[in-house]
Amino acid sequence: MKSITIKKTQSLKGEITVPGDKSISHRAIMLGSIAEGDTTIKGLLKGEDNMATLKAFRQMGIRIDEHENGIVAIQGKGLHGLKEPEDFIDAGNSGTTMRLLTGLLSGQKFFSVLTGDQYLRKRPMKRVVEPLNLMGAKIFGREDGNKAPLAIVGSKLKGMTYNSPVASAQIKSAILMAGLYADGVTTVIEPTISRDHTERMLAYFGADVKRNGATVSIKGGQKLVGKKIEVPGDISSAAFFMVAALITKDSELLIKNAGINPTRTGIIDILQAMGGDLKIANQREISGEPVGDILIKSSRLKGIEIKGDIIPRAIDELPVIAVAAAFADGITTIKDAKELKVKETDRIESMTSELRKIGVKVTPLQDGMTIEGGKKPIGNDSCTSWGDHRVAMSMIVAGLAVEKGITVSNTDCIDTSFPGFVKTLSGLGCAVSESQE
Ligand code: S3P
Repeated sequence: MKSITIKKTQSLKGEITVPGDKSISHRAIMLGSIAEGDTTIKGLLKGEDNMATLKAFRQMGIRIDEHENGIVAIQGKGLHGLKEPEDFIDAGNSGTTMRLLTGLLSGQKFFSVLTGDQYLRKRPMKRVVEPLNLMGAKIFGREDGNKAPLAIVGSKLKGMTYNSPVASAQIKSAILMAGLYADGVTTVIEPTISRDHTERMLAYFGADVKRNGATVSIKGGQKLVGKKIEVPGDISSAAFFMVAALITKDSELLIKNAGINPTRTGIIDILQAMGGDLKIANQREISGEPVGDILIKSSRLKGIEIKGDIIPRAIDELPVIAVAAAFADGITTIKDAKELKVKETDRIESMTSELRKIGVKVTPLQDGMTIEGGKKPIGNDSCTSWGDHRVAMSMIVAGLAVEKGITVSNTDCIDTSFPGFVKTLSGLGCAVSESQE
């Protein structure tokens, strides 16, 4: 197991890019595989999560070539071109792989089994299994279908209208994937809109997707046509560097080519509301997704209340927002974020524990946490990631601004979403080192 030590750093200056968006990369591989003809993807994230998705489609007979220039080429075989995988499909640590594939595999004409690592096997799957069952899916799993491994007997599906109890792009997307194979129209209504990459990419591949606020509908049997896709930098990865630049003195950092899809930019709105100096420039659209450059300057931050509709727009960034709050003046409260409990770890528990280790006063809540800023956090050489990539990177960012620095153990998980994280930090002059435990 690796661990990472980071020392206090004076300032972050320069220009960086971050690896491709994880959510968009998953969808590009999935839709490219069931589209007709060739899809080429530039900037695909080659993190472990996306590689699990890629391997799954190779197991189902799709030819996917990774060229030396970084382009990934998929020979799509159409909606009904997948073949039964000979062995189980391993989604690794990736909830998106498991949940979206559960939807897609429900409507195939074959049998498949999905499993994952020790963390993913603990995460709830009923949230997708239940609605898919309503469409006629046959899915079996541990704990009455709630936990992987999941066995899926492909079946004939029928369209439905589903009122999702949570704003979750994984639930919505699993149902839309199944909807592609269902008779009639499938509609998902969310309490507030979650990230909309599936809808955007389905439309980009030529499907007729009807959208109205937080309601989305798709008719089954539609043909997708292979496309050229460019994946923007992942705003969730950029978030670590936004906070890093804000909490270190005299920093001025430009993050180029980052996704700025409005269903994902909660992080920017929240940091601005905390007093952060962040500006978006060079806005454009690439492959159906908004992209821009983000300029961040060190700022004095203040505590705020974060709740309501903004939560799904910032759900993966709440750990690093908690770090920003630890360096802000006053109290920050995060509410309405019960979903934090079912991420790669229970992030209310894991972040409370790790922030307390560096002397931050944190109170866990049922649906979030309060963080008392204003006191100088101290160093600690025994922080751990809990096996969660975003906890690992959040605590490393905190280390940039604490006197004695921080060591985080169990950091291999960073490779699930951000290979090259340490290299990007050291490229900016940060005193960071990796060691093997
Ligand atoms: C994702 C959706 C979100 C997010 C996850 C990626 C996706 O999960 O936390 O990292 O790609 O659809 P939920 O749908 O559970 O909110």
